[in-house]
Amino acid sequence: MTKAIRIHAYGGPEVLQWEDVPTPEPGPGEALVRHQAIGLNYIDVYFRTGLYKAPAMPAVIGMEAAGVVERVGPDVTAVAPGDRVATAGAPIGAYSQQRVIAADRLVKLPPAISFQTAAAMMLQGMTAEYLIRRTYKVKAGDTILLHAAAGGVGLILSQWAKHLGATVIGVVSTDAKAELARAHGTEHAIVGAENLPAEVKRITGGAMVPVVYDSVGRDTFAASLDCLTPLGVMVSFGNSSGPVPPVDIAVLAAKGSLYLTRPTLATYTAKPADLQATAKALFDVVESGAVRITVNQTFPLAEAAAAHSALESRRTTGSTVLLP
Ligand SMILES: NC(=O)c1ccc[n+]([C@@H]2O[C@H](COP(=O)([O-])OP(=O)(O)OC[C@H]3O[C@@H](n4cnc5c(N)ncnc54)[C@H](OP(=O)(O)O)[C@@H]3O)[C@@H](O)[C@H]2O)c1
Repeated sequence: MTKAIRIHAYGGPEVLQWEDVPTPEPGPGEALVRHQAIGLNYIDVYFRTGLYKAPAMPAVIGMEAAGVVERVGPDVTAVAPGDRVATAGAPIGAYSQQRVIAADRLVKLPPAISFQTAAAMMLQGMTAEYLIRRTYKVKAGDTILLHAAAGGVGLILSQWAKHLGATVIGVVSTDAKAELARAHGTEHAIVGAENLPAEVKRITGGAMVPVVYDSVGRDTFAASLDCLTPLGVMVSFGNSSGPVPPVDIAVLAAKGSLYLTRPTLATYTAKPADLQATAKALFDVVESGAVRITVNQTFPLAEAAAAHSALESRRTTGSTVLLP
């Protein structure tokens, strides 16, 4: 047997149960991994509440972990027992001491990357990679707008965008978060999103921004559109305040022939080669020191409910790691 956090029904943090589950055996193309650290991500909240659906109940949620390969199934050559590995993305199942996963969803960790750092950065950091290098190619001289700038994705994306030569305007909810964001690449921190277009207009001298990275969703979507230049790119990549209601696409014309995308890491890392390349780009900026990974909270995995409460009530900053 092994231990995992499972849900039997959707609901609040209390549905997260610490339970005995059978230790799985790896089949063809699969590996059994013993987790050393697990990443907490906002998507875990969506799977717990039922905003995103688990394939079956009971379900082990979680999408990011780092650990050691214990056994591999037939035909597996990419990894071997003893390898230090990490994974991020579908399928769910990371909130566990051991899990079986397709070997081609594993990335080998460089020696300099600890398990905790890997669990803190793989999902949020690979997300930052595709958002600023592929969804919209951030370049030197750009000024970009980033919501939740002191969060997990936020601290990584802002440092990486600055490294690319961009100026980051970051939105946060408190002065303390503004200070943290400024220490991680944000040039201009805006506290509160109430007067966002006016604030962005003031900071950019009326130019506005070519891209907005909005993970807050319902509460900020409309204001984010009003921060864009004509032909600007609205990247709506999350729902921490709730999902964005259906959009009248005529609005995109009226506000200046805007582009709108709703991207996911799953698409950008669907091919194993893309997964490996995305991870490599992340390892490079972390190993060079251009991006620092900030683990500001750790919880025992058994106390995942407390971690969820902290994340949802906006009490976390940077990344959070669960220890099995
Ligand atoms: N599409 C993708 O591929 C992808 C991948 C990874 C993450 N994401 C999304 O990116 C976002 C950030 O994820 P994360 O794991 O790094 O979380 P996080 O940013 O560390 O935490 C969420 C933050 O959102 C802000 N927020 C604004 N309104 C909120 C509300 N009503 N309730 C709760 N939080 C609110 C809070 O910061 P303030 O207090 O400063 O406002 C909070 O700290 C999430 O929406 C997540 O779903 C998307």
